Amino acid sequence: MDVTEPLLKWYDINKRDLPWRHTRDAYAVFVSETMLQQTRVDTVIAYYQDFMRRFPDVFSLARAPEIDVLNAWKGLGYYSRARNLHRAAKMVTEQFGGRFPDTLEGWLALLGAGDYIAGAVTSIALGKPCAAVDGNVLRVIARIDGILTDISTPAARREVKARVQQLLPPGRPSEFTQALMELGALVCKPKSPECQSCPVSSLCMAYAQGAMDRIPVKTPKKPPRSVDMCIAAVVSGEELLLERRPKGALLAHMWGLPAV
Ligand code: ADE
Repeated sequence: MDVTEPLLKWYDINKRDLPWRHTRDAYAVFVSETMLQQTRVDTVIAYYQDFMRRFPDVFSLARAPEIDVLNAWKGLGYYSRARNLHRAAKMVTEQFGGRFPDTLEGWLALLGAGDYIAGAVTSIALGKPCAAVDGNVLRVIARIDGILTDISTPAARREVKARVQQLLPPGRPSEFTQALMELGALVCKPKSPECQSCPVSSLCMAYAQGAMDRIPVKTPKKPPRSVDMCIAAVVSGEELLLERRPKGALLAHMWGLPAV
């Protein structure tokens, strides 16, 4: 027996009612997965609803000036996500008449990189069996399979992706992808996982070995480096001098006070 069936059953009963789960529209799923890639569900909900009100379809997003898109993103951070979303929307309207790709390869080509988002949209919106591996999925699969490779390495990601690909049920890829994420968020948490309410604990290697706090293996990140900067406030009458931060710098492309 593998984990697919019990996990899907658990998901059907326990899934949260999240706004992006009411649709299979590729644009809506693209927006939500882009937001969810580096931000928690609780934070994303309000941003997603506001963004979809402002830009209800790919045409409205493509037409919008970049500054409006960045404003809708204000507070979510990682602004390159908003720029990539906007760029993809423009490409889809200008080159494909507003139709999003219907294959994984098409999504990969549209996004340039974006392995996670391409997999997530292809499985969740298009219902195709494509693995989408985020932090929750890495942790859940690492525990189930007792993977001892450091999960921050590309090797572990490849291993987990191959395993998810193998587990994905052809009939319900959308639910399965989200079930893995949901289990990671609600039960198989990083600290103090709730194994007594886990639908797949009997199939979990980490649980069998009592190794939930040792798996996933993760080498600690280097502590952040502090950098001293001088910020200039150059005022002339009613005007304040701003500069656009260079590409590649922290807060790239954003307007700010001149800094050295
Ligand atoms: N994290 C990333 N994608 C998600 C989704 N579709 N639902 C819940 N959490 C997620």
